[in-house]
Amino acid sequence: MVKLSPSILSADFSKLADEIKDIEEGGTDFIHLDVMDGKYVPNITFGPKLIKDLRKHSNKVFDAHLMIDSPENYIDEFIEAGCDIITVHPESTIHLHRVIQTIKAAGIKAGVSLNPSTSLNVLDYIIDDIDLILIMSVNPGFGGQSFIPAMYDKIRQTRELIGDRDIILEVDGGVKLDNVKEVIASGADAIVAGSAIFDGKNTVENTKAFKRILSGEKE
Ligand code: DX5
Ligand code: ZN
Repeated sequence: MVKLSPSILSADFSKLADEIKDIEEGGTDFIHLDVMDGKYVPNITFGPKLIKDLRKHSNKVFDAHLMIDSPENYIDEFIEAGCDIITVHPESTIHLHRVIQTIKAAGIKAGVSLNPSTSLNVLDYIIDDIDLILIMSVNPGFGGQSFIPAMYDKIRQTRELIGDRDIILEVDGGVKLDNVKEVIASGADAIVAGSAIFDGKNTVENTKAFKRILSGEKE
């Protein structure tokens, strides 16, 4: 079944434990943690301390998406904070292969995230080492942007590239109730949704609405 990974980026940071309770009540699978440093992307969010504190409030899969420069300097802290999946961007590090090995050596899943303009070729020599490919369907940095239609083709190509490999194909950015079916039909295994889930009032219902579509859409 297609997994749901709500991004807490659009949640109210002053009451994150309650926001997480709501997506759990709605039946979420993962929790997507968008870490931004104001350098790799033009926005700042949070770091390992917050993730570690949230870990006490949830047993769901912690799906950390690092949009930070030189992630190798912080990987150990994110591992220690309790992340289950750590995803990095190839442009953010000089030694992508090494970063992936560090994540894997900790016994957790390693992901690679591709910006809209980043070619699938960067996966050529690492695809057999990774557990997740995150296709960005907006430019990273902010929630609430519009899905870039050219990414449907990229999702299809990524699905083909993955073939029989045990790799999660996750799609992140601009996914709403009205386009999620098309995203899944293109080949996504996991969906990130931020602003479409955390709207300050209907978080439980929004989560359930996504889950209903996700459970019906893939055989
Ligand atoms: C963007 C983040 C996304 C974003 C998704 O840099 O990686 O996870 O928060 O938010 P929506 O669903 O609002 O596009
Ligand atoms: Zn993300």
